[in-house]
Amino acid sequence: MIKKLSTILILCLFTVALAAAAPGPRHVYLTWQGDTSTTMTVVFQTLTPVDDPVVYFGPDSHEKLSEYPSQTKGRPTKFPGLNRWVHFVKLTGLEPGQTYYFRAGDSKNGFSTERKFRTMASESEDVRFVTGGDMWIEPATFELMKQAASQSPQFALVGGDMAYADGKTSHINFWDKWLDGWDKYMVTPQGYMIPMILAVGNHETRGGFGGKPEDAPYFYNFFKQDARGYFSRRLGPDIIVYVLDSGHTNPQGGAQAQWLAKEMERTQNIKNRFALYHVPLYPSYPGVFNNPYESGGRKHWGPLFDKYRLKAGFENHYHTFKRTKPLRGNKVDPAGTVYLGDGCWGRPPRKVKAQLDWYEAKTASRRHVWLVDVSGDKVHYRAMDPHGKIFDEYEN
Ligand SMILES: [Fe+2]
Repeated sequence: MIKKLSTILILCLFTVALAAAAPGPRHVYLTWQGDTSTTMTVVFQTLTPVDDPVVYFGPDSHEKLSEYPSQTKGRPTKFPGLNRWVHFVKLTGLEPGQTYYFRAGDSKNGFSTERKFRTMASESEDVRFVTGGDMWIEPATFELMKQAASQSPQFALVGGDMAYADGKTSHINFWDKWLDGWDKYMVTPQGYMIPMILAVGNHETRGGFGGKPEDAPYFYNFFKQDARGYFSRRLGPDIIVYVLDSGHTNPQGGAQAQWLAKEMERTQNIKNRFALYHVPLYPSYPGVFNNPYESGGRKHWGPLFDKYRLKAGFENHYHTFKRTKPLRGNKVDPAGTVYLGDGCWGRPPRKVKAQLDWYEAKTASRRHVWLVDVSGDKVHYRAMDPHGKIFDEYEN
């Protein structure tokens, strides 16, 4: 009897020691698969299979897992072709505009430290977010993450070409460094994690262009925002973002353009309508205006942006800075859409045209992120460099 008890005790101590030593998940990050006011999708990864991925959460901070009032189980998901499991835990029924604390993990690998996030409000409020793309894992990528997070954005719109893994399983180390950077630096001074809304780019995709969702395994298996790769997100009552695929894993026309037409019609009364995508309709890089995916964007999406009066198109891909004049019907129009880009959140800047094109208001060979402040139906855009210097502003 005594022997049996001592064996149980040793086993218990061993389990406690293991749990204490367990490193926790490899990555923890946030995205959305639905309503941004009442849900949050906590994603975490492990290097071994697990049976019981779970997130413990609640409106207050706690010392012990057992003290959190709620828990939601996830579904273990293996990443195809790698020893990597990606666990999606969609927290639902949350209060709008509320802070939540959580820990994510499983019994074998252990749990993350406590993190916190805030849901979007369901009533009008001033909202700040950041946007940019073409990042990779350069020192400047992380400098810009720090600068972006220091401004306390409520979310980030990431416009493609994040880790430059090109969909190759051999390049998962790029994603590990990118996600480590996001986890470390994309935290606000108040300690809030910054949820990501992402568009696909050519460097997420094997072959770059003209592929299918299977060709962008990290984009679809690390984030699972929507099965199709193009979707909209409502962020409070006054903001909607149309997230588009500029021909990497879905054609720009056809089903995607039909969906966009219906979605823009359905949501045309929301005050501030933005689009996020990788390849610019109005590029600042020389000699590419008539390339197929630039022309494709202008052909399939441009007339919809004009018809439904998009406020801003967030463009990327060329590793330059750009703000266009307001444009409508392929002409300068004071009531038109402004196009902001062109993706230089870390990648070395490329040269812009020697002279401004007819549609350009300002261009530069300069790394940056865009800070966007929305207040009612007014939007204020500011370009910030890796030193935190604001070097361009616009309002519409
Ligand atoms: Fe690109």
